[in-house]
Amino acid sequence: MSHTIFDNVSIGSLPLTSRIAMAPMTRSRTSQPGDVPNAMMATYYQQRANAGLIISEGTPISAVARGYSMTPGIYTQAHIDGWKQVTRAVHDAGSKIFVQLWHVGRRSHASIAGQQPLAPSAQKDADKVFGPLPEGGFGMIETDMPRAMTQQDIDDTIRDFVQASRNAMEAGFDGVEIHAAHGYLFDTFLHKSSNLRTDQYGGSQQNRMRFLMETLSAVCDAIGSEKVAVRLSPHVIEGFANPDDEIVAVTLKAIEQMAPMRLAYIHFSENISRFVDVPDSFRQQVRAVYPGLIMVAGKLTLANAESMLAKGYADLFAFGTPYVSNPDLALRLRNNWPLADFDADARLTLYGGDAHGYIDYPVYAAPAH
Ligand SMILES: Cc1cc2nc3c(=O)[nH]c(=O)nc-3n(C[C@H](O)[C@H](O)[C@H](O)COP(=O)(O)O)c2cc1C
Repeated sequence: MSHTIFDNVSIGSLPLTSRIAMAPMTRSRTSQPGDVPNAMMATYYQQRANAGLIISEGTPISAVARGYSMTPGIYTQAHIDGWKQVTRAVHDAGSKIFVQLWHVGRRSHASIAGQQPLAPSAQKDADKVFGPLPEGGFGMIETDMPRAMTQQDIDDTIRDFVQASRNAMEAGFDGVEIHAAHGYLFDTFLHKSSNLRTDQYGGSQQNRMRFLMETLSAVCDAIGSEKVAVRLSPHVIEGFANPDDEIVAVTLKAIEQMAPMRLAYIHFSENISRFVDVPDSFRQQVRAVYPGLIMVAGKLTLANAESMLAKGYADLFAFGTPYVSNPDLALRLRNNWPLADFDADARLTLYGGDAHGYIDYPVYAAPAH
């Protein structure tokens, strides 16, 4: 029997109306002060609840985990209460939603994180993040040199992830996706160039993946493994000056060890700003060591998603930018309706701003005959 991405599927006991997911996308539209999720965000997510699963924008688990101004947190009661209106709106519209739990690590600045950013080692590559400008207002600023995490920092961070996961359950999310991609905290532990530690969290491949594995275990113990997912990006160089010749091997070893944990899914981010192409051999190696659900994202089209499903390379397909300008994306794909492009000024409305470029993209309307 052939499958399509429009089929029903389940994540553990969680039924999804299709294999189509909305990829996590930072849109920086929280209410201030306090970076609180609001009614406009609930409208935005509800408009896109035609996806089988929505993954929220990256959501910092603590103040020091922040790397971008205006992103929503999940570490205060106001955050939890704000997110409740989002999860309710998505559920009312018939979809499910995971929160993406985020610690940016070194991709930050003290003016955003409230203290010197944390990382495996005091190492940084040239990099810019969205934060307060010295002359006032917001813009891109060079990241700070991070501080090497102590054992205490690692223990505290695992505790913060666990608390954030419990908060996510209170807020009504169906699960959490741990962000271990794109040069953020966990990715810098996995990479050789950013992890120069000589303790049990650095050196060998097994040591470099230890912090991620310990965090996943702790979060699974707290909320149940079928509610826990992870995002990885071994073919993305974002956040690093150079590619790492061991990152694919470390990733395969890590997912092999994740297999018995029975996570909700593992999610590969591909094809963002700095990347190398993913060879089919990698997808085959992943399938060989990982029997659970696999999600992919990155410049997907209906045709290549269907082809990856037919080859057995992936089970869930996340669309990012197409969901920005097509709130009804799953319906358009299903009915073969044309996709809308960004507005001309979309680059200004992706991150931050008001309703424009956020909740005012229309659903498809058939041309009048
Ligand atoms: C505006 C914007 C914000 C994004 N924010 C996040 C994020 O918070 N977390 C994350 O893991 N990926 C983020 N991404 C990457 C997307 O999840 C996705 O992997 C990427 O856009 C490629 O998919 P696409 O070609 O379908 O857009 C973002 C992408 C865009 C365009």
